[in-house]
Amino acid sequence: MGTGYVGLVTGACLAYLGHRVTCVDRDEERLKGLRSGRMPFYEPGLEDLVARGVGRGRLDFARVEGVAGLVDEADAIFVSVDTPQGEDGSADLSSVAAVARQIGRALAELRTGRGSPLVVVNKSTVPVGSGDYVSMLIRDGIEEAIGEGAGGEGAAGFLVVSNPEFLREGSAVYDSFFPDRIVAGADSREALDVLRTLYEPVIEQSFPTELDPRPKVAVPFITTDLASAEMIKYASNAFLATKISFINEIANICELVGADVSEVATAIGLDARIGSRFLNAGIGWGGSCFPKDIAALRAAAREYDYEAILLDAVAAVNVRQRKQVIAKLQRDLHTLKGKRIALLGLSFKPNTDDLRDAPSLEIASVLDSLGARAVGYDPVAGKAAAQKLPSLKVVFDPYEALGGAHAAVLITEWEEIRTLDLNRASALMDEPKVLVDGRNALDPEAAVEAGLSYRGFGRG
Ligand code: UGA
Repeated sequence: MGTGYVGLVTGACLAYLGHRVTCVDRDEERLKGLRSGRMPFYEPGLEDLVARGVGRGRLDFARVEGVAGLVDEADAIFVSVDTPQGEDGSADLSSVAAVARQIGRALAELRTGRGSPLVVVNKSTVPVGSGDYVSMLIRDGIEEAIGEGAGGEGAAGFLVVSNPEFLREGSAVYDSFFPDRIVAGADSREALDVLRTLYEPVIEQSFPTELDPRPKVAVPFITTDLASAEMIKYASNAFLATKISFINEIANICELVGADVSEVATAIGLDARIGSRFLNAGIGWGGSCFPKDIAALRAAAREYDYEAILLDAVAAVNVRQRKQVIAKLQRDLHTLKGKRIALLGLSFKPNTDDLRDAPSLEIASVLDSLGARAVGYDPVAGKAAAQKLPSLKVVFDPYEALGGAHAAVLITEWEEIRTLDLNRASALMDEPKVLVDGRNALDPEAAVEAGLSYRGFGRG
């Protein structure tokens, strides 16, 4: 249930593994698109996978009203609906709650008794305790339907499992087939066994694939209680965000003392206890997951009157990184009024069209408020960015964005932006030709040789 990044990718991958999958959504337009092979968002490899599943008769799409019929036959229902950030930072569970009630009603209306309990898998990122909350709402749904006279044999049993996802946008298909671990939390062994069977081909790496020729190593299948599985998800994202904010803090100090954070990150990353990934300094993290999950974890701590000071600082460092882009531009350009600034890359990270909490939009709107003209380019997210922020002029060629620009900011390190022709860029730009490299993705020497004033993050 839910055809967002998590639901659709999980559904298409489970179908590829040989299961029979129906992806359910309430958005008819989205379903229509999916049935004709149109993906609702850009995710490499997904279109192909969906087409394969549909072609082999293992994947189809249904409206949420049809869920009653599906509950009859399904071994498991994955709940992969949105859990947006509420006003106080906590996760808004209204979509999860609606789905849980629908499942309850469907269970009560069952005409034929099920042989085994329905396994309800919480795949959406939900706060600790949501497993029990979902159980309660399913029971509510059952009671409501029975109270209204639903006369099915059903009211069959159900079991709730937490199965957090660790997919990265842009490589979600790859991550589904080659995860570092699969986590399942439940109070019942039976439910964990169903999940293990579903994921068996991934755990054993026994599915046929052209995707990755690595030697096959079994994927750890971690089973826990419900609350721990829910916490594992938040702790993973919070740790990764902490790692990024940590290196950004070091980058800021590097800048003051004249050290190079890239060298520092490479060397500290070689310590196996630290690890080299997620140590790229720059304008920090955005997207649909880290900001929302860190806010939700902080909000959860507040419910217990616990001050999560480390997480508060992680978030504060991230806010400061974005502001630094403006500070760097002001240092070189002084006033930004009347200046043209090229924004290279608009999605929150490469290989996705996702603009949720994208630094580009925040930076563009501050530039607008300071009287500058921001001109953005992105290989896939341009149109959507223009719709979200009318003050942002969007063009469809990076060099067009650079034409006449007094400064350029590299915001998203798409391959085509990392490999930009810096001489051509410089020839097109106006003095003082400042290049703020928000992801430390370019070669500073090459930029300077091309005649640009290069400003990285923490690079001496
Ligand atoms: C993240 C996690 O990596 C996934 O494991 C998780 O499943 C997902 O959230 C989720 O909760 O659904 P995602 O948001 O797609 O995935 O993107 P990441 O690749 O983790 O990047 C997050 C942000 O951190 C991006 O804005 C990226 O530019 C930034 N980042 C990443 C850095 O600033 N520095 C780095 O070194 C790495």
